[in-house]
Amino acid sequence: MNIPKPDPTPGNTEWFVHDRFGLFIHWGLYSLAARHEWVKKYEKMDNETYEKYFKHFDPDLYDPEMWARVASDAGMKYFVVTTKHHEGFCLWDSKLTDYKATNTPAGRDLLRPMVEAFRKQNMKVGFYYSLLDWHHPHYTVDRCHPMSENEEYIKADKDRDIEKYIEYMYGQVRELLTEYGKIDIMWFDFSVPPSDRFPGKGKEVWQSEKLIKMVRELQPGILINDRLQIDQDIKTPEQFVPRGWVKVNGKPVIWEACHTFSGSWGYHRDEESWKSVETLVKMLIDTVSKGGNLLLNVGPTARGEFDERALDRLKGIGEWMKRHSRSIYGCTRAPEEFKCPNDCRYTYNPKTNRLYLHIFSWPFKHIYLDGMADKVEYAQLLNDASEIKMLYKDSFSMHGGDSLIDDSTLILQLPVKKPNVTVPVIELFLKS
Ligand code: GLC
Repeated sequence: MNIPKPDPTPGNTEWFVHDRFGLFIHWGLYSLAARHEWVKKYEKMDNETYEKYFKHFDPDLYDPEMWARVASDAGMKYFVVTTKHHEGFCLWDSKLTDYKATNTPAGRDLLRPMVEAFRKQNMKVGFYYSLLDWHHPHYTVDRCHPMSENEEYIKADKDRDIEKYIEYMYGQVRELLTEYGKIDIMWFDFSVPPSDRFPGKGKEVWQSEKLIKMVRELQPGILINDRLQIDQDIKTPEQFVPRGWVKVNGKPVIWEACHTFSGSWGYHRDEESWKSVETLVKMLIDTVSKGGNLLLNVGPTARGEFDERALDRLKGIGEWMKRHSRSIYGCTRAPEEFKCPNDCRYTYNPKTNRLYLHIFSWPFKHIYLDGMADKVEYAQLLNDASEIKMLYKDSFSMHGGDSLIDDSTLILQLPVKKPNVTVPVIELFLKS
């Protein structure tokens, strides 16, 4: 059967392509501004102006056990948290900086209890680490920097030594990978393209090869993403739905789409473009039907909570996952020879040899699967394991018949009423 097979990568991707669904967490000082994690750049704030968020960061309602429970109930199997975002603020008690949660009113390492709580839910642990750093004194100006229009700040670049920043970054990554037990994913973000005025920052500046080597030495088996300008284990398309299995140089690769609920990664109070549960469930299905993973982001508030809109969406996804995760975990794109009917998505579990038909738009009474007449042993609705009758050309005795049916067509007979689930799924047990 024809299913794309990406080449093996250095890390252990087996669990990753099985689990399919993870939680992204963007949490930092920008959560107080509550208007995008790039607020420092968008509003051209200098360090002094931004300091108010550091002074007032007091997540008194922070309950990592609850975060982990909510994520696990939604069907997520791993999480990736911003240990440090572009603003440079660290959620953990780094020995290399004072710019960390410990020195805010929070007064403690916020990362450790999170890691522990998610592990307790049997979830894998991923660290996002921003290569950009808009706070470090030796980080030079580039097009993305909040001070990219501040001549005085730019002039001072001559006294900045990016090597010192790189050394700091290596030290921090080392801390993260040695002090928090087994880490499953290292999610670096990102390489900056050059502009007319400023050089970019990419694999030369980050010394990506050396960095990757260090990460692999410290955490054998770890997965590394693609944003160091050297592709490693995971390709990471962001905020769009790829048309098909993601390829690099024409070859299928292991990939993970990352998405927000509403456009911003950090908590955004006023954003109104929240995706519905239905859209999100369909995005998850669509991703797996193309052989990918979905990393779905929550931006917790500065008080330390997932806001009600996020909770509502996660709960809705969890309701669906409770009965349908069998069509997600361990599944991938269906063999090419199975032609998917309109308004549907197939996923396929190669181990169990079951094919999952996700019906995005509920049709009246019949679905026609051409070429499948001799392939399916049994069919049922996944939500309640109720049998779906299978009809064939000979047994399809509707008045007037249907000239478009041939001997290869399998006809599934559906209830007229759509089952009361977000996206109904028919589980097809294939003949061996
Ligand atoms: C982008 C943004 C960043 C976000 C990330 C998530 O690179 O800079 O804010 O964390 O995407 O993929």
